[in-house]
Amino acid sequence: MRQDKNKKVEFGDFQTPSNLARNIIDLINRKSTGAKTIIEPTCGKGSILTSAIDNLNGWEKIIGIDINDAYLDDLKKKIINPSSKMKNIEIIQGDFFTFDWNNLLNEAVQPILIIGNLPWVTHSGLGVINGSNLPTKTNFLKHKGFDAISGKSNFDISEWMLIRFVNCLKNMTANIAMLCKTFVARKLLCYIWKNKLPLTESAIYKINAKYYFGANVDACLLFCAFGKQNINYDCEIYPDITSTVRENVIGFYDGMLINDVPTYIQLKHLQGKVDSNWRSGVKHDCSKVMVFEKKGGFYVNGFCERYNLEDEYLYPLLKSSDVANGKIREIRKYVLITQRFIGQETESIKLKAPNTWKYLKKYSSLLDKRKSSIYKDKPNFSIFAIGDYAFSDWKVVISALYKKIDFKLVGKYKNKSVMVDDTCNYLSFSNKKDAELVLELLNSEEARSFLNSIIFWDSKRPITINILKKLRIKELLK
Ligand SMILES: C[S@@+](CC[C@H](N)C(=O)[O-])C[C@H]1O[C@@H](n2cnc3c(N)ncnc32)[C@H](O)[C@@H]1O
Repeated sequence: MRQDKNKKVEFGDFQTPSNLARNIIDLINRKSTGAKTIIEPTCGKGSILTSAIDNLNGWEKIIGIDINDAYLDDLKKKIINPSSKMKNIEIIQGDFFTFDWNNLLNEAVQPILIIGNLPWVTHSGLGVINGSNLPTKTNFLKHKGFDAISGKSNFDISEWMLIRFVNCLKNMTANIAMLCKTFVARKLLCYIWKNKLPLTESAIYKINAKYYFGANVDACLLFCAFGKQNINYDCEIYPDITSTVRENVIGFYDGMLINDVPTYIQLKHLQGKVDSNWRSGVKHDCSKVMVFEKKGGFYVNGFCERYNLEDEYLYPLLKSSDVANGKIREIRKYVLITQRFIGQETESIKLKAPNTWKYLKKYSSLLDKRKSSIYKDKPNFSIFAIGDYAFSDWKVVISALYKKIDFKLVGKYKNKSVMVDDTCNYLSFSNKKDAELVLELLNSEEARSFLNSIIFWDSKRPITINILKKLRIKELLK
């Protein structure tokens, strides 16, 4: 098989170094899973498999499967040493997506251990390289509950594979020990929790993916034990695969994923019926055209072009970085706000602000090209996340991207409401006193601890509206 760069991407091919493989096997020995059948579903060159053969206690049969013949030839050479164990090792060439896992697992002597390192590739990553290493479309769409956890547009192939396994293991005594991205591990746990699968133990052991795989991603070894008794949905987090001291416990409470279970349990009275109307900042998806700096009385767009535009449709803008860095009083940017509410006609700009209209017309091809479906069948030059709330006198704002809980109070600038970009979330107020009170409550120790207990800081956008809504401001008042 050609191992050019695209193939490596398509097959998510990051072979596990032998020192990490050995650490994984040592961990499984510490866990005393008693596993008799060991299965490595995408075993590759087999560093984990060979380490299991040599070092894992008590196994009776080991099975390795991979799509790549060349890797399996290499692997067979490594384990060719004739020994009595050999007859219990099976190496099979196969495609994960068409392999008969039900048959293999049903035949296997329990307890079973599914171990390894599945391909590190996303559905959209495959799209970029025209890769086809995917479950068949029909199967994929029929997969119950999958949409719910994967998001509509993108998912990790390993996530799909892990879900395939946990569904097969429902009525078995079995364990999974799998290297994967940390957010894939969390998504799988959510799937298990939501589908009430019989999990008896789970743990996440962080690994340094940069060091072991040269990959800039949060990764871990996910360990899950399935059985019939003592269902336990709390998942322990360890800082390192060799560590025996846990740093945290995550879990599933009140229908949501909790990042710090003990703190959440202490502060859980702060969540409940939603009592706040969080909004996200204005969305236009065309910042080169819609965002300006003001220089010498001219508005300068993202193409460094100067325009003499009417002030009417231009509003002061704060970006996430301004909010996070507290630069909320120096306005550096302005944004074209073409509508006061979603779907409002935009033709009237022609009369009220002819220069602005001319400018928008000039860039209509770029604005029409915006990909998001929200712009489809809407008036020309439409924007989103716009309504009376955006034109309020006061906003209590937080950046969704930055990894800190620090709410800021933003008032009008030169008598105009200040807009925030779509990577910020905010509450609107007409009254300064109310805004100041809510600001104080949101920045209180109690509120921060509560939010910290439900925020996963390694997410791309950790502070979502859904998370903010969980915090009941009225409860904080009490
Ligand atoms: C991240 S590597 C891990 C290899 C090995 N488990 C290890 O830990 O070193 C992923 C492996 O998945 C295999 N693979 C990718 N797509 C596959 C598929 N559809 N069916 C079976 N194996 C596949 C690749 O050939 C590669 O060896």
